[in-house]
Amino acid sequence: MTGRAGARGGASGLPRVSGELSRPVFFVGFMGAGKTSVARRLARTCGVASVDMDTYLERREGKRVREIFAESGEEGFRDVESDVLRELAGKEPLLVSCGGGVVKRPENRAVLREAGFVVHLNVTADEAKSRISDTSTRPLFQDLDTARRTAEERGPLYDEVADAVVDTAGKGVAAIAREVQRILEKEGILCLQRR
Ligand code: S3P
Repeated sequence: MTGRAGARGGASGLPRVSGELSRPVFFVGFMGAGKTSVARRLARTCGVASVDMDTYLERREGKRVREIFAESGEEGFRDVESDVLRELAGKEPLLVSCGGGVVKRPENRAVLREAGFVVHLNVTADEAKSRISDTSTRPLFQDLDTARRTAEERGPLYDEVADAVVDTAGKGVAAIAREVQRILEKEGILCLQRR
């Protein structure tokens, strides 16, 4: 989890901005959409905390995602993922970058919708492929044809939970984070105090 110490200012090192979230913000979208980078960037610039679900899950279980898939299969991984989602949804509001498949289970979609504000970072499988340098860490992104089909199947599930959709095509992390920030401020989810 990254702390609240982000948004560091000038020589004093004090945060220039301190942010409050009224609800958890869940970033969803296909693998390679930039959920983790965007959540981290926003956490730094707005002085709020962020957590990456897969990193949290790996620390909690003491195993890498690919090991859990190898030992317990996708359903075993999804069981742990659902548990972690409920745990994070019950914490003080955070920016949470979710694993791309979190929307597969109806119970998870209910938690996302009820507990938080959901931002869908939209990306095509083709663009995602060009952004992911090492697919070995993603058991469900092995070849482009399968990834295209998976992205197609998941489209309606992301739509079902999303409060906001941000198209990431051709945009860098900073631009996407600024776009998300504007949405969160406008919706009253993020309140910034500038010093
Ligand atoms: C998955 C996405 C991964 C990870 C796991 C399964 C998926 O997370 O949770 O490999 O089903 O799309 P990222 O979306 O962060 O790559």
